[in-house]
Amino acid sequence: MEHIIINGGRPLYGNVSINGMKNAALPIISACVLNEEPCIIDNIPPVSDIEILLDILSSIGADVRRLTKNSVEINCKNVRPCSSPRELAEKLRGSSYLLGAEFGRFGKASVSHPGGCSIGARPLDLHMKAFEALGADCAHKNGRLEVETDLLRPVGNTIYFDKISVGATANAILASVLANGVTTIENAAREPHIVDLSAFLNACGANIIGAGTSVIKIKGVQKLHGCRHSIIPDMIEAGTYMAAVAATGGKVTVRNVIPKHLEAISSKLEEAGVNVICGDDCITVESNGKLRGVSIVTKEYPGFATDMQPQFGAMLCFAEGASDIVENIFSSRFQYLDELAKMGAEIKVDTNHAVIRGGAKLSGAPLFCHDLRAGAAMVIAALATKDTSTIEGIDKIERGYYNIVGKLRELGADIQKKASVKDEQISATM
Ligand code: EPZ
Repeated sequence: MEHIIINGGRPLYGNVSINGMKNAALPIISACVLNEEPCIIDNIPPVSDIEILLDILSSIGADVRRLTKNSVEINCKNVRPCSSPRELAEKLRGSSYLLGAEFGRFGKASVSHPGGCSIGARPLDLHMKAFEALGADCAHKNGRLEVETDLLRPVGNTIYFDKISVGATANAILASVLANGVTTIENAAREPHIVDLSAFLNACGANIIGAGTSVIKIKGVQKLHGCRHSIIPDMIEAGTYMAAVAATGGKVTVRNVIPKHLEAISSKLEEAGVNVICGDDCITVESNGKLRGVSIVTKEYPGFATDMQPQFGAMLCFAEGASDIVENIFSSRFQYLDELAKMGAEIKVDTNHAVIRGGAKLSGAPLFCHDLRAGAAMVIAALATKDTSTIEGIDKIERGYYNIVGKLRELGADIQKKASVKDEQISATM
């Protein structure tokens, strides 16, 4: 398995260009299944989760044509529902969006249970509640979730989510854009990627209002038409580089971002003593590496994103004072702290509350990526530690970060990707 070697302790300087948002691209690519005409999607991040979802679409009959590394034309005219392959669908959480898209267009859907980061319970009960409200019967059969209505199409209705869920909100939108009647989603997620999904679907002729607020209304239409759409920038990729330079010291400008999406991150960095200057489509972060401890409480957007919690946990190990983190979204998103403890970080965890002592002089260690954002946290900790660290399991990082090694090298980091010793021995004998 490939691994990363980092000789840390070097400040980061320069510019880094941010890719399109993985978590916006996944529902938008899935939404093409609702459309019998071709769509072109630009600014797609070339990361493994996206590649897998595009392979799934091809395997169910879509015509997927790569125009450039970041642009793809998708024609789902001949898509066959209920035929996605288990071995692909179970690799990512984003395959769950095929349920809403297939049910929305064909009145039936079947997808094997999705994968996704192991950060706690990842149920689909809210997704099923939405489909049932729209007239479906849902059942688990042979490891697949089956969704079907005996009407030709879903029927518009009111869906009330007693818990805010990004995925369930997106799936409810997908399932209702072609429904007979009006659907109202109450207590909807307000994330920028919900707004981007709505913008894409409206550009295809859907009738959605209220995305970005907690009440979204969808008036079902007969059919959609093709469109061309560019994915919003990845606020989590941007926030990750901002946290990295805060920890290492230096001055970095993240380009191609929407600063408003990063308000909670920028504000928390300023509280920690970092200088943050926002431009129209860029943010410059300057740090002398001396950080104050802060309190982090993760919340749904526009609160502090859970997907930035591990990166800040790593960064705050280098703060002079104590910090504490309350993780309110997922039940098991602190495993990365065990890896930081191997470097000498002093951290106490009590269920969803962690206290980081700060001020410790960390030393390099062999680190493991438990999941995508935990892997990003390992990179940040290794970059800021004046020692050598190795990080295994980087395929998890590459699910959501395009060319992270190349981008960090551009910023002055001493980082390289190596085949594992075993892989090197194998290739030497070939
Ligand atoms: C999306 O996951 C993202 N993944 C996650 O990013 C992100 O952390 C999460 O939203 C929250 O922002 C993708 O977009 C592919 P949820 P999702 O439904 O949709 C509970 C990353 O690092 N819940 O908003 O699965 C759930 O257990 C990944 O890029 C139910 O109880 O998240 C959690 O406690 C990690 N029942 C809470 O809701 C359900 O049916 C929020 O989950 C669904 C969710």
